Amino acid sequence: MVLVPAKDMLVKAREEGYAVGHFNINNLEWTKAILEACEEAKSPVILGVSEGAVKYMTGFRTVAAMVAAMVEEMKITVPVALHLDHGSYEGTQKAIAAGFSSVMFDGSHYPFEENIAKSKEMIALAHSKGLSIECEVGSIGGEEDGVIGSGELADPNECKTMADLGIDFLAAGIGNIHGKYPENWAGLSFETLEKISNITGGIPLVLHGGSGIPTDQIQKAISLGVSKVNVNTECQLAFAEATRKYIEEGGDQKPKGFDPRKLLNPGFEAIKAMVHEKIDIFGSRNKA
Ligand code: 13P
Repeated sequence: MVLVPAKDMLVKAREEGYAVGHFNINNLEWTKAILEACEEAKSPVILGVSEGAVKYMTGFRTVAAMVAAMVEEMKITVPVALHLDHGSYEGTQKAIAAGFSSVMFDGSHYPFEENIAKSKEMIALAHSKGLSIECEVGSIGGEEDGVIGSGELADPNECKTMADLGIDFLAAGIGNIHGKYPENWAGLSFETLEKISNITGGIPLVLHGGSGIPTDQIQKAISLGVSKVNVNTECQLAFAEATRKYIEEGGDQKPKGFDPRKLLNPGFEAIKAMVHEKIDIFGSRNKA
């Protein structure tokens, strides 16, 4: 199989005390940059795709076909999972049908009982096709592609109920938020993380909103059971900054400087550098 489920790479990460990066993709350049960096670093990788990004790229089948073909054409040897990020009830089913190798069903905005009932259904469906599945308890704050959460601390008992359903990895709110962190952010709640980690019996935990969390907090979270860290905003900021610099310095005014392959290259290189930096913070270099 070209694309692999994320379960095995995350179980290994949890056992060995590092985390695998989940990097969101938005287009071909993003995907190529992340794959190239992870191959150079010999790091396993999870390519995350939100439903907004799926829509932008014209549909689930386009994304699945593009990523599978790129892994082959680029002769990628590290494990690559294609993972739906914050999947809706309908979107999760579409991703599974289209050939994703992993899904997140995010029912955290439903009342807990309904989240459990729908998660159960999605777990059975994903596992019947050999895919890994992530579910969420306690919504993640901030805003991502129109999904707005209020930044809760998850209830450890609810996390246990969810983990006991047989999910492969668990996303739980521990004060983390998507997007840029505000100046007055209180930091991660390690007390909550520790309780969740102890009660859920060694299941890999997921830290959403990985952009902008200080390195010491990321590494402490990893030591307490986080095995997957999601990064989106920081790659976007790096891409935008490098592209702005290229244009402000007149790069696009040079002969053929307006060619998209040249115009998008500084941003491409900036994403690669960011992925390398994150791999070192997460500890997944040479773990493929
Ligand atoms: P950031 O955009 O804050 O990095 O969060 C990414 C994320 O959690 C995707 O699910």
